[in-house]
This record gives sequence, structure tokens and C-alpha cells, in this order.
Amino acid sequence: MAKNKLRRFSEMKDWSNCFEPTMDAITLENFPLKGNWNKNHFKNENPIVLELGCGKGEYSIGLSQHFPTKNFIGVDIKGARIWVGAKEAVEKEYSNVAFLRTKIDFISSFFAKDEVDEIWLTFSDPQPIKPNKRLTSKYFIERYRQILKTGGIIHLKTDSDVLFESTLDQIEEHDYELLESTWDLYSEMDQNLDQTTRDIFHIKTHYENLFVSRGSVIKYCRFKVS
Ligand SMILES: C[S@@+](CC[C@H](N)C(=O)[O-])C[C@H]1O[C@@H](n2cnc3c(N)ncnc32)[C@H](O)[C@@H]1O
Repeated sequence: MAKNKLRRFSEMKDWSNCFEPTMDAITLENFPLKGNWNKNHFKNENPIVLELGCGKGEYSIGLSQHFPTKNFIGVDIKGARIWVGAKEAVEKEYSNVAFLRTKIDFISSFFAKDEVDEIWLTFSDPQPIKPNKRLTSKYFIERYRQILKTGGIIHLKTDSDVLFESTLDQIEEHDYELLESTWDLYSEMDQNLDQTTRDIFHIKTHYENLFVSRGSVIKYCRFKVS
């Protein structure tokens, strides 16, 4: 493994905002923070918001600064990416943001029923030939349903027509409740928003910057699954 990656992995082990559980059956059944993130980690009773597939965690970090009375947890399998967000949070002493390195497939092993208030999916892989691997497929939504509070909201921000269209299809097919949807976030919705909401939508992730520089149009929707 590259030296830089090894250094990052070793640094992360010392940070109290970073969790890297093994994915063996015993850990998956006994993760100590499951149901206890607020009591044992954040030490408050604030709502919990997840960013799934967070990469370098720009959304988790950005949202945490807009909403000091919510707790944010970025989840991704790639440790070297999570390191970027976790390092910023450690250096700036942001206490309402944490990172969990795991496969999203196992998300219900790490959060209890009703523990999560909202989920953000930011520039998720569109998986053009493996629809079941899309983070808005029924396979994943069933897992989110196990941890989301009733009425909990899922946000999707994407450059991908394939992912956006298939998400809207899933919403219709499974009778989820679509709250908001636009095929062109910045030109259609932007003007009608209050400043805070606009600022939130303008948080730019690594992949958003990449896609926008190639001319992609950003889509957004928000929906409920229960
Ligand atoms: C295209 S990147 C987007 C990263 C970031 N949200 C951004 O906008 O810059 C997708 C991310 O999702 C993560 N990912 C995809 N499927 C995953 C899964 N099943 N479990 C955990 N992470 C996953 C990848 O590791 C990757 O970092």
C-alpha cells in the first residue's frame, strides 16, 4: 500500500471522530455505538444526519457548520478519502461531525431503529449496469428504512441522469413521498430559496466540482420512505 495511505490510516486511529469497525459477524452484531451515538459520542440529544458515500466529507463538514444543533456522520468505505474530512474536523475542533468507515450495505448494524433523522446521498456512483448497487435502489432503501425515524428525509444530489431518473422511478414504483425535485438545481430552484438553504445547496464536494467542470447539470430531489 502507498506510504501516504498508510500514514493516513495510522493517523485516523488516534482521532476520536473516526470509527473503523471491522466487518466480521461479531462486530456487526455488537457495535457499541449502535443506538448510543448521541449518548456516548456526541453527548447531546440532537438529530443525527448521515452522509452516505461521503468521500472527503465536504457535505458533512459544511452542514455541520450550518446546523450546530444537529450531529453529522459521514460514511464511506474509502479511508483515505474520509481522512480529509476527519482531519479538518479534528483541526477545527468541530464536535458535531464524525466519520464511519464501512460498507453502506451494513448500515443497520451501526445505527438503531429510529436513530437517524435524515440522509444525504451526494454524487453517489450511478452504477449504470448494476442498478441494485445504486444507493437509491430498493436494496439500500430497505436498509435506510430500518434506521430512519418515521418521516425521515432522504436527499439526493447528483450529476447523473441515470441515477436521478432511476431514483424518481423507484419513488413512484414504491410509493415513497416525493417532496421536491429538480433536473437543474442551480437554475430552477436557486432563486426561490432563502439564504441558508441556498448556502447548503452550494456546498461543493470533490466530485461535484469535477462534474461541473465537465459541464454536468446538477439534479436534486428530497423524499420520504415512511
Ligand atoms: C463518486 S464518489 C462521491 C464522493 C463524495 N460524496 C463527493 O461528492 O465527492 C462515491 C463514494 O461512495 C462510496 N461508496 C459507494 N458505494 C459504497 C458502499 N456500498 N459502501 C460505502 N461506500 C460506498 C465510494 O467509496 C465513494 O467515495
